[in-house]
Amino acid sequence: EKVILAYSGGLDTSIIVPWLKENYDFEVIAVCIDVGQGDDMEKVREKAIKTGASKVYIEDVKEEFITDYLFKGIKSGAVYEGKYLLGTAFARPLMAKKLVEIAHTEGARYICHGCTGKGNDQVRFEVGIASFDPDIKIIAPWRIWDIKSREDAIDYAARRGIDIPVTKEKIYSRDMNLWHVSHEGGELENPTNEHKEDMYLLTTPPEKAPDFPTYVDIYFEKGVPKKVNGEELSPVEMLKLLNKIAGENGIGVIDLVENRLVGMKSRGVYETPAGTLLYFAHDELERMTLDKMTYHFKQIMSIKYGELLYDGLWFTTLRESLDSFVETTQKTVTGSVKLKLYKGNIKTASIDTPYALYNEEISSFSTGSLYNHKDAEGFINLYSLPSKIKAMTNKE
Ligand code: ARG
Ligand code: SIN
Repeated sequence: EKVILAYSGGLDTSIIVPWLKENYDFEVIAVCIDVGQGDDMEKVREKAIKTGASKVYIEDVKEEFITDYLFKGIKSGAVYEGKYLLGTAFARPLMAKKLVEIAHTEGARYICHGCTGKGNDQVRFEVGIASFDPDIKIIAPWRIWDIKSREDAIDYAARRGIDIPVTKEKIYSRDMNLWHVSHEGGELENPTNEHKEDMYLLTTPPEKAPDFPTYVDIYFEKGVPKKVNGEELSPVEMLKLLNKIAGENGIGVIDLVENRLVGMKSRGVYETPAGTLLYFAHDELERMTLDKMTYHFKQIMSIKYGELLYDGLWFTTLRESLDSFVETTQKTVTGSVKLKLYKGNIKTASIDTPYALYNEEISSFSTGSLYNHKDAEGFINLYSLPSKIKAMTNKE
């Protein structure tokens, strides 16, 4: 019997390979899905084989990750609890989809993952897998074995001579891809501890960022970023470049206590340099190009979209329907936004779009022909009618 293991080469999945072989009679097929975590995939392959996997798949899905997931996020403005740009949540559904595809190729009936029993990722993987194949059986070692902590896991690896990328001193649980890196666990678990800036992997702390501002110009076409500083870039090149520019200027770090799907709160630090710029610029463009009602409705929708994504409900009719709404709104979200970056801050320097609903002549303080000051009087009379009636009743 074969089992497909979602493999990263990190602490948890490294010890799972021997554990699966010691406890089941499985042939382990390791699948490493490359969403831009920046690991040397040949090393990952070697490690999987060395620890006992019989076969390794390395799946480069970076482009698909950006165009089919992250770009939908930018267009929708999806954000969780007002802060989190969902870097891990974006990647899980795509990983689930790939795992099922490989399970089918291999004729495997089992998929195994290294998520703990306390987190969101287990839910995202398993809901995603179930959406493509309800008959696949899941093995989640963290919900079975008696390894109770990351410290136990480190000891387990040491006893089997497995190299692991963490030590008991540097014990953050991290998840990295082209969009973000998350840090959880360790001293972050106590919210009275200020996070240490030396944990950053993508960001220069604002205090150490350049003493002069950096300008960056992002061009969008129908809500999709196409050019940076006038140069057309592939999705992967674009994210790499913007991560560098934003990261050097200390942009995109958040530190939050979030509500997990499984009931508890947890504290995390996230670095999302490129994503923060892209969300910011895209929103600036929408402020110019969307009418008030649509913009306001979309703000509410973004919260719902973020929740769906966070909660692992990507492959659902509701998410697809929200995307249809979003697509309609993006028809005119085309143009350039120039941002000024300085020590962790973003300011808008200019917005240039042929679809602006902003009209300088109308909005200007000087009088124009389309808007008559006198009309305002009648408008306010009717508009204030309910307030007048309420005030009258209060008097009586
Ligand atoms: N709390 C974040 C989320 O739920 C990050 C999870 C990071 N996952 C991980 N396996 N390290 O999306
Ligand atoms: C985990 O628990 O495996 C990582 C964190 C999460 O899934 O929320």
